[in-house]
Amino acid sequence: MKRLRTGLFLGVTAVAWVVVSSSIPAYSQEDITSLKDEAFGKGQRPPAVFVHEAHNEKAEIEDCNVCHHVYRNGKNVEDESSEDSRCSDCHNMKKGYPTRPLMKAYHDLCKGCHKAKKAGPITCGECHPRKGASGAHEAEGEH
Ligand code: HEC
Ligand code: HEC
Ligand code: HEC
Ligand code: HEC
Repeated sequence: MKRLRTGLFLGVTAVAWVVVSSSIPAYSQEDITSLKDEAFGKGQRPPAVFVHEAHNEKAEIEDCNVCHHVYRNGKNVEDESSEDSRCSDCHNMKKGYPTRPLMKAYHDLCKGCHKAKKAGPITCGECHPRKGASGAHEAEGEH
């Protein structure tokens, strides 16, 4: 019985390791200029503009966990960051899932802060600009 348990444990560990090592991001945050998640499928809107490093510098956000949060027992754990996970690892497309659905999670986080700070875009077209629209230029700081 003990043997069997150990074998099972090692098996589970091996599977977890494969999953973790294959999900190591190919790009670092410096490379992010827009957001897209396969969970949305084809998607209805062009990917949202988000130049990760420049945005956070301009907006003067120092703590990674303002966005990359960790919750335990329903509470935000202040000192921990989930920067190695994707939003969709915890927020999915299903209604009634314990966490708010993915699109709402993004909109609440992004628009929520922009509204609170009275800075940053809050209209659809500013975040999801059509190709060549002015929103894209503004995001690249070309003004
Ligand atoms: C502050 C930026 C921001 C604003 C404003 C905003 N969105 Fe989004 N939206 C996002 C982000 C970030 C995502 C997730 C990444 C992606 O799919 O672009 C998203 C995802 C979506 C998605 C799911 C993905 C897809 O393309 O199907 C839809 C639909 C959407 N937004 C529609 C809208 C509409 C309609 C408005 C205006 C009422 C709007 N958004 C305003 C940032 C924004
Ligand atoms: C304003 C919100 C915000 C802040 C602040 C922020 N990030 Fe992110 N970061 C994001 C979003 C959104 C993504 C894309 C998540 C996804 O695709 O699921 C991301 C992605 C990442 C990724 C994954 C890259 C990849 O391609 O998989 C890393 C690593 C990361 N951020 C690190 C950091 C670190 C380190 C900090 C603090 C210095 C930080 N982030 C601060 C919003 C933020
Ligand atoms: C490790 C799991 C995990 C990751 C990764 C994660 N979240 Fe969450 N998030 C949660 C949990 C759990 C809650 C609490 C339940 C809820 O309110 O949906 C939460 C709450 C939220 C809230 C509500 C915050 C508030 O002040 O009430 C927003 C908005 C949100 N997440 C957006 C995001 C976005 C956008 C990302 C990616 C940058 C992300 N989350 C990544 C687990 C996660
Ligand atoms: C904690 C607050 C906060 C959060 C969270 C946040 N933003 Fe912002 N954002 C700002 C502020 C402040 C500005 C205005 C910066 C300036 O121009 O001074 C801004 C500006 C922007 C701009 C204008 C161009 C730029 O890069 O300055 C875009 C686009 C943008 N945000 C997209 C997003 C998206 C998409 C998300 C969610 C993934 C997000 N923001 C989350 C605070 C935030």
